[in-house]
Amino acid sequence: MRVLIVYCHPSKDSFTKSMCDAFLKGITDSGNEYILSDLYEMGFDPVMKEEEYLRDANYRDTPAVADDVRKEQEKINSADAIALIYPVFWTEAPAMLVGWFDRVWSYGFAYGNKTMKLLDKAIILCSAGNPLDRLEQFGLLDSMKKVMFGDRLFGRVKESEFIVFDCTSRENELREKNWDANLQKAYEKGRTLFA
Ligand SMILES: Cc1cc2nc3c(=O)[nH]c(=O)nc-3n(C[C@H](O)[C@H](O)[C@H](O)COP(=O)(O)O)c2cc1C
Repeated sequence: MRVLIVYCHPSKDSFTKSMCDAFLKGITDSGNEYILSDLYEMGFDPVMKEEEYLRDANYRDTPAVADDVRKEQEKINSADAIALIYPVFWTEAPAMLVGWFDRVWSYGFAYGNKTMKLLDKAIILCSAGNPLDRLEQFGLLDSMKKVMFGDRLFGRVKESEFIVFDCTSRENELREKNWDANLQKAYEKGRTLFA
């Protein structure tokens, strides 16, 4: 089985990078494979162009999608599952990943006369500076889940899971304390993704 990893973090010096690496190791150790879209490494352009807006807003198939978008769509359709790995920025994914959805989830692929494959599974692994109870306090975690499950992934995946690694901001002593256990958890999520 194959999973497309969409990874988005501006720095290699991060918990999220280590967590992503642990997840990838779990995937390969279980005899599965992955394709990696490292958005910063690729220099992915997240900005929707006017031409793309007019195409998608008017439910048109033309012009054909840009090459960088087509490549991402081909990766999705060659995978059985998708994993989104990122740090929470202002109760959302980083702008580059939000822009990836704006452009890659195009008309004729993700909606309209869809050519996007129905994926077996989606898993979201995100790091958050806040503790989970703070994220739950104002329904922030719920908002993040609703946007992912109720909109972006809705009708496009059979099963989905949202995992938050909380208390990971640098000033929080739990970041270091929980580091190894969190990486082990990410590894196990990768190892058992298709179990
Ligand atoms: C611009 C920015 C916005 C952030 N917004 C949030 C937020 O809304 N909620 C939260 O829990 N943490 C937030 N954080 C904290 C990051 O999620 C946290 O520092 C990160 O997950 C730690 O992991 P890292 O070492 O991989 O960056 C934010 C951090 C930055 C830099």
